Amino acid sequence: MLDLESLYSANANNMKKSVIRELLKLTGQPGIISFAGGLPAPQTFPVEGLRAAADKVFRERPASALQYGTTEGDTELKDQLIAFEARQGLKLGRDDLLIVSASQQALDIACKVFLDPGDLVIAGRPTYLGEIQAIQSYRAEILGVPFGNGDDGFDMGELRARYTTAKAAGKKVKYVYVIPDFQNPTGICWSLEKRKELLAFSYENDLLIIEDAPYREIRFLGEARPSIFQLDQEGEARGNVIGFKTFSKILAPGTRMGWVIANPELISKFVVAKQAMDLCSNVFTQAWVAEYLKTAAIYAHIEQTRALYREKRNHMIEALARCMPSRHDLTWTEPEGGLFLWIRLPSFIDTEAMFPAAIAEKVAYVIGSAFYFDEPERNAMRINFSYPSLEQIDEGVERLAGVIRTTIARDGIAHDGIAGDGIARGS
Ligand SMILES: Cc1ncc(COP(=O)(O)O)c(C=O)c1O
Repeated sequence: MLDLESLYSANANNMKKSVIRELLKLTGQPGIISFAGGLPAPQTFPVEGLRAAADKVFRERPASALQYGTTEGDTELKDQLIAFEARQGLKLGRDDLLIVSASQQALDIACKVFLDPGDLVIAGRPTYLGEIQAIQSYRAEILGVPFGNGDDGFDMGELRARYTTAKAAGKKVKYVYVIPDFQNPTGICWSLEKRKELLAFSYENDLLIIEDAPYREIRFLGEARPSIFQLDQEGEARGNVIGFKTFSKILAPGTRMGWVIANPELISKFVVAKQAMDLCSNVFTQAWVAEYLKTAAIYAHIEQTRALYREKRNHMIEALARCMPSRHDLTWTEPEGGLFLWIRLPSFIDTEAMFPAAIAEKVAYVIGSAFYFDEPERNAMRINFSYPSLEQIDEGVERLAGVIRTTIARDGIAHDGIAGDGIARGS
């Protein structure tokens, strides 16, 4: 029998399985209401529009759509994306864009281009699990920065302190990875001030910023804030920011189609890195999505998606307020966009230890510790509101609140004399 372990590369040996994918296997059991996935609502997929666009590609340009394409990407798609981004105030040319097989590929390309083993990437505590996995697979590490009390971006004092310590220890910090619009997992949206402050920090320290923005267009409340890419473009235009965008949340994740925006020099480096991965992104899909974009139906489509998610988010927040035990140390974010909210629980609750009880009650979430590179906080969870129906949200939140109530009743008094009703008893 072949000893595969001895053949794997050091990088492969450092790869970790996705906790979410492992948990999702459990959540597929019948009767479980899952708040664990990050799936868009399937009823948002514009099936008829996409079918018509695919027909058009087969009728009008089958020879090129079924052929190899360039690594940089289909120029018709790029032109559509330039128009799409212009509506948000960005000025882009074709050379500022690279078409990728959705943003997860872009995350991997960034690691491939920038990271040597032991290098550091600054990222949130918590941050997107797919980024943690990508960084681990290149044997690099995350320098985690907690969010400030206002849930409006990093704690900037901590960012500076941790960066200074890492530099003093001789570490190479390569870039800052952020999801300023409705972060996965917390739903946090960065304030304008903190976006500007982070950009200034990147200028001061010659760092790149990777702005991962899959949820940017899914804002259902409040006013849009400029992206960090845009702040750079409209200000000093030093080109420190690389933007990652995707059709996964605004059209359909099955398209596996996304785009990178950056200065042309960086784009060319990304192109070379991508060549060895897949030569080019799916050529038919690029033509197909370009045809769909030409109809301009995407704008009304995004509006409908926003309206649906606003309703679901409001419904979930109402259900949480109605069902959860009322305690100062049990709170949740109230995001103005995106797909998730983040529940912070009393410090004595470990959401991983509580997970089997939740599955027994037929409700699932993602354990908060999955979103930390190191020293995880254990008393949080991510829940998704885009996929479940309103009825499932009501029922699922009730089940979840029951599990939490039971855990607090069991462990609360032992821990800090606080009973399940949140009232201090004894010393
Ligand atoms: C922050 C973030 N980045 C990237 C991705 C990957 O998205 P995709 O590869 O579908 O574009 C996700 C998916 O949920 C995400 O939440």
